Amino acid sequence: MRTQVGIIGAGPAGLLLSRLLHLQGIDSVVLENRSRDYVEARIRAGILEQHTVDTLTAAGLGDRLQREGLEHRGIYLQYPGTRHKLDFPELCGRTVWVYGQTEVTKDLIAAQLDGGPPLLFEVSDVRPEDVDGDSPRIRFTDADGVEQVLECDVIAGTDGFHGPSRAVVQGAAGRVWERTYPYAWLGILADAAPATDELIYAWHPEGFALYSMRSPSVSRLYLQVDPAEKIEDWSDDRIWENLATRFALEGWELTTGTITEKSVLPMRSFVSTPMRRGRLFLAGDAAHIVPPTGAKGLNLAVADVTLLAQALVRLLHEKQTDLVDTYSDRALARVWRCTHFSWFMTSMLHRSGDDFDAELQLSQLRRIAASEPAARELAENYTGLPLDL
Ligand code: FAD
Ligand code: PHB
Repeated sequence: MRTQVGIIGAGPAGLLLSRLLHLQGIDSVVLENRSRDYVEARIRAGILEQHTVDTLTAAGLGDRLQREGLEHRGIYLQYPGTRHKLDFPELCGRTVWVYGQTEVTKDLIAAQLDGGPPLLFEVSDVRPEDVDGDSPRIRFTDADGVEQVLECDVIAGTDGFHGPSRAVVQGAAGRVWERTYPYAWLGILADAAPATDELIYAWHPEGFALYSMRSPSVSRLYLQVDPAEKIEDWSDDRIWENLATRFALEGWELTTGTITEKSVLPMRSFVSTPMRRGRLFLAGDAAHIVPPTGAKGLNLAVADVTLLAQALVRLLHEKQTDLVDTYSDRALARVWRCTHFSWFMTSMLHRSGDDFDAELQLSQLRRIAASEPAARELAENYTGLPLDL
């Protein structure tokens, strides 16, 4: 088999890259080790920045997003006694959208299977090879157990945090930065109409809580828990009680409903540099992880592949290497900005157990509620900074 761009991983990064290249007349093949059902059912991110919405719409993927997505004009920051609204259009002229990553993935897969480039599910033993030369290849075993070789001009490693690509890039002269946090999120999906018009990020003495949603009838809620917590120890009643305590506000009531999914998610910051070795380019979670408090993971993956698609079009159509040569540095400028913002939101909102920390957090929250420049800084980062910083 031969293609111009071999893409490892059919998450949002790999699928969108394939789509953007296809629209520019560049061939690709996407290799995914999971099944289509598994990939489409994974519950992950929920907030799309304006540039993510614009990119998906320009790529012909905006129909259902425009119909079913919910435009959000702000967030609430809550701390005891106060629920303060940040109005994004007023602060920075932009908005965000609630549209689940599962829906983005379904739209991308549907477009791909409807006359788009090949997308192979359930492959195994995927190995990028000879990435330092001009003719790299990917060896893999297909779903029928047959060994295959995919010859490529370029390989995109969009295989997430656990994929094989990062180790190949790191093998040259890479470096890794990492921070683990002493918190995790217990996330639920519930058949309950959201009791709020905007997301609520709540600081509480017992720990952070986030009120998000997926549709007018489905809520997505999170509780800060210890990373060692076992989901079996959290009955539905215990979860609702904790949510009610942490979101409590005079005159407001939580709506409850059937919990359809619950899990504990670890939190970390992680950056791997550079994002390129020879003809292998990393994008998305393969190169970096952020804690979810800033809602940046999916948006960063989209930003990476938007830059990478432009660079590959220039390389493969015009034989110019300038954009591939600067890809890693340009992508990393945005990665570090989002890494800082995600760390900042995480640090401001999670209870560490230390009362000195708590007073600093509350002081920062009150400052954002009182100062337009402080609120604008948060709003600009949350709604998404320009693609190329
Ligand atoms: P992924 O979505 O991880 O896609 C990588 C793909 O590569 C996967 O389909 C994987 O199966 C495939 N793959 C892996 N190894 C191989 C291999 N050897 N061969 C072939 N294919 C392979 N972000 C937020 O902003 N908000 C959230 O609430 C949020 N929640 C999250 C919850 C969880 C449990 C996780 C893991 C992430 C969450 N994120 C969240 C982060 C966000 O979902 C990711 O940033 C986003 O999925 C990145 O997209 P990606 O395409 O780079 O990686
Ligand atoms: C979500 O809806 O899953 C979500 C929203 C905002 C975040 C993280 C997750 O910061």
